Amino acid sequence: MERAQTPRRQTDIDVKESFATHYKELLQDKYETFMECNHHYLRRALRINTLKADPERIADQLTRAGWQLTPVPWCAHAYWISGERRDIGNLLEHQLGHVYIQDPASMLPPIVLNPKPGETILDMCASPGSKTSQAAAMMENTGVIVANDVEAKRLAPLQTNLQRLGVINAVITKKDGRAFKNQQFDRIMIDAPCSGTGTLRRSLKGIDMFNIKQVHNLSRLQKDLLAAGWQALKPGGVITYSTCTLEPLENEVVVSEFLASHPQATLSDITLDIKREDAWTAHPETGKALHSEVRKCLRIHPYTNDTEGFFVCRIHKPKIL
Ligand SMILES: C[S@@+](CC[C@H](N)C(=O)[O-])C[C@H]1O[C@@H](n2cnc3c(N)ncnc32)[C@H](O)[C@@H]1O
Repeated sequence: MERAQTPRRQTDIDVKESFATHYKELLQDKYETFMECNHHYLRRALRINTLKADPERIADQLTRAGWQLTPVPWCAHAYWISGERRDIGNLLEHQLGHVYIQDPASMLPPIVLNPKPGETILDMCASPGSKTSQAAAMMENTGVIVANDVEAKRLAPLQTNLQRLGVINAVITKKDGRAFKNQQFDRIMIDAPCSGTGTLRRSLKGIDMFNIKQVHNLSRLQKDLLAAGWQALKPGGVITYSTCTLEPLENEVVVSEFLASHPQATLSDITLDIKREDAWTAHPETGKALHSEVRKCLRIHPYTNDTEGFFVCRIHKPKIL
């Protein structure tokens, strides 16, 4: 795949052996493509914040200032942006909250969740608020979003971002997501903590931090977060479960085990204008077949659409239990 940006590092850096072995086994003949892609800058992208700005006017303003905008096919008012400068964080439009810098892969969960004006939403793992603010825009600042995160130090950036973007329908809570239960949320977004191997284009340090034991620990936490979300969801409600890792143990395996223990839960197909990889259909360690519904999960790798790697699925609770 041809990429707009130059490599930022030589491709012959030392890649931790345990990472290389693990990912060669997982990705097989796609491993080299994956690593080659990880050595390229991400294409810069932003979403125009319709809570504060008119999308056409902002797109026009940026174009007139010399930026090239390429629309993101799966997200309204979102663009890849390129130009002489790379420091789009210094744009006045960014400081004013008229735009939000966000990788297009990370825009997927709110699109898949599709929150409506007036609804009550839980964003279980919300900081720094990219998806909370996107959901707030979709809800036209009405209804309520409970923007939760367990980490005290991550609440400040969450608050700052929501304030800058003019979000007024969110309340911030600090709670372990596993403690949510017996609520009646219309929709719940679980953008789970994960090993982040889809985001190596941001920083290759993730390779050094990779640890399969941590993947197993995260997988356990993710299953608990999803089970808690199910309890906090009203009948007829919808959950999105997402991560920015390529690890099947944190993605399809979590969803498969959840479906096996919650027979009333169903997945729906995600039909968006996006290229995708096949979902994993067998456990990566035992080879055991996963729940057949996991085929409906949307999995993208960094090279699939020249974005970050991402995983998302949509889970439904029946109206009558
Ligand atoms: C992938 S990040 C969320 C990104 C965010 N949704 C966004 O779009 O800006 C995962 C978040 O989960 C939080 N987290 C980790 N463990 C958690 C738990 N047990 N309950 C709730 N949040 C948790 C982390 O502090 C982190 O902020």
